[in-house]
Amino acid sequence: MELGRSEYSEKAQIAINNFLPRLGKRKTIDTITDGLSSRPKQISSMFLYDTTGSNLFSQITRLPEYYLTRIEMALLQQLAPKIIGLCGRGSDIVELGSGECRKISLLFDCASQSALHSLRYVPVDINPEEIKKSVGMLITKYRGIQVCGVVADYTQQFELIPRDRDRLICFLGSTIGNLTDDMRRGFLMKIAQSMAPGDRFLVGMDMVKAPYLLEKAYNDSANVTALFNKNILNVVNSLAATDFDLSRFEHVAFYNTEYSRIEMHLRALENMTVSSPRIGQRFTIKKGELIHTENSRKFRPEKTAEELHSAGFTIDSVVMDSNRWYSLYLLSKSGTV
Ligand code: TRP
Repeated sequence: MELGRSEYSEKAQIAINNFLPRLGKRKTIDTITDGLSSRPKQISSMFLYDTTGSNLFSQITRLPEYYLTRIEMALLQQLAPKIIGLCGRGSDIVELGSGECRKISLLFDCASQSALHSLRYVPVDINPEEIKKSVGMLITKYRGIQVCGVVADYTQQFELIPRDRDRLICFLGSTIGNLTDDMRRGFLMKIAQSMAPGDRFLVGMDMVKAPYLLEKAYNDSANVTALFNKNILNVVNSLAATDFDLSRFEHVAFYNTEYSRIEMHLRALENMTVSSPRIGQRFTIKKGELIHTENSRKFRPEKTAEELHSAGFTIDSVVMDSNRWYSLYLLSKSGTV
């Protein structure tokens, strides 16, 4: 089929770059085996998001117990006109961990036709299929928008994200809480350092609240979170040729008060040996042993403001719901306008 003129120019407005191969297969396997050989055992949460994992996560964001997405979307809607107003002509909207792009769409919804024509959206995600799917959806829904998808692990490949235009960097979903405290501090500084005067950083954070509310959000009654957590073993099986049997594990999520974080683990229901003949490794797992898969740090307003300042940010606005369950921070780099 011959491409019509409009289809052709529309196609020219899309680019997708996949930087994951640069990380190397060997390194991925090493990350997995190092984690399974350490005590306590752990698997990096980066492996939660294959096709099945991304679909399950999309379901989680719609669960009644999982208040985070619902509140964040309401806050984003509230802040959207201001944010779009700040994006000058020819700006980039970069989104770290863009997933299905449901939230960022709230920004585009309030952009005028001419604003859309001058914007470039840069979704960054570890899952190439999510990027392809959302890019297709966005260019049909928001005519004129330019999209430059980046398939990468933004914690290791942040430098590869384009920075040739004015930028609004978005890090939503309280994903910042999935980094360890040290990684988060380093990452915040890296973001601040990468910013030019006039650039903005929009970050969503889930706040400390009664533990039973937090624990409900990560132990939903439909067991979707349990499936999502266990699916990490399928991903490991396919990457490292291990033989994890998902039915021999249960999902565990609890609030650790000392560290202000929800911890996600998989608990072995019996003694077992997991092996991968291909990579020549065996792992012994005892009944009751936990494999740590994810942390979701919860934040306090005062501490957060302090941390953001010391990372090099000025807080332009903070919006919270009336219960103060969730916050959106709009930041610029300190010492710049
Ligand atoms: N950023 C999400 C959060 O911290 C990620 C998440 C939600 C998650 N539910 C999960 C990670 C369950 C692992 C397991 O809330």
